[in-house]
Amino acid sequence: MEYTIRKMCSEDIPAVARLEKDTFTEPWSEQSFASELINPQATIVVCECGGNVVGFADMREICSECYINNVAVAEGFRSNGIGRALMEALHSACSQDAEFITLEVRESNSVAIDMYRKLGYIKVGVRKDFYRQPTENACLMTKPLK
Ligand SMILES: CC(C)(COP(=O)(O)OP(=O)(O)OC[C@H]1O[C@@H](n2cnc3c(N)ncnc32)[C@H](O)[C@@H]1OP(=O)(O)O)[C@@H](O)C(=O)NCCC(=O)NCCS
Repeated sequence: MEYTIRKMCSEDIPAVARLEKDTFTEPWSEQSFASELINPQATIVVCECGGNVVGFADMREICSECYINNVAVAEGFRSNGIGRALMEALHSACSQDAEFITLEVRESNSVAIDMYRKLGYIKVGVRKDFYRQPTENACLMTKPLK
């Protein structure tokens, strides 16, 4: 499958918000993505395939810490290396000063946990009842960058 990973632009907002809504039970709105896009601490990358946005990943860097907000790939496009490619694009966008990247993931999300482990993330804790709809613990994972 041929695809391109690139920085998100304002024209992508409706497609990214749609994918977010299709994927997560408490989705960000178009307005939230518009604000994130102009946040100097944020990096959002998208995957474009056949002219359509089929994945995105969103990170913030604050001081020397990076935090992955979200990563999603459209259902029909999964298991083609896109999730990994989006994550690697975020890793490349981390500044020289960044010391680690952190993220939360539902404890039941074994596919994502597997992907994060393969990308060098290790489980460092649990956030009890972190998620709603349904309520579930978050597994806190970190990847050291230095
Ligand atoms: C998690 C997600 C982003 C992975 O994207 P993807 O494009 O399918 O992932 P890739 O094809 O790059 O695969 C990366 C790894 O994920 C795991 N994976 C992917 N598809 C899988 C499947 N069908 N079954 C089991 N593991 C799978 C594997 O560990 C894979 O590594 P490998 O290719 O070396 O086997 C995607 O499944 C998704 O959007 N899920 C819903 C949203 C979500 O859960 N986001 C994470 C929130 S924290």
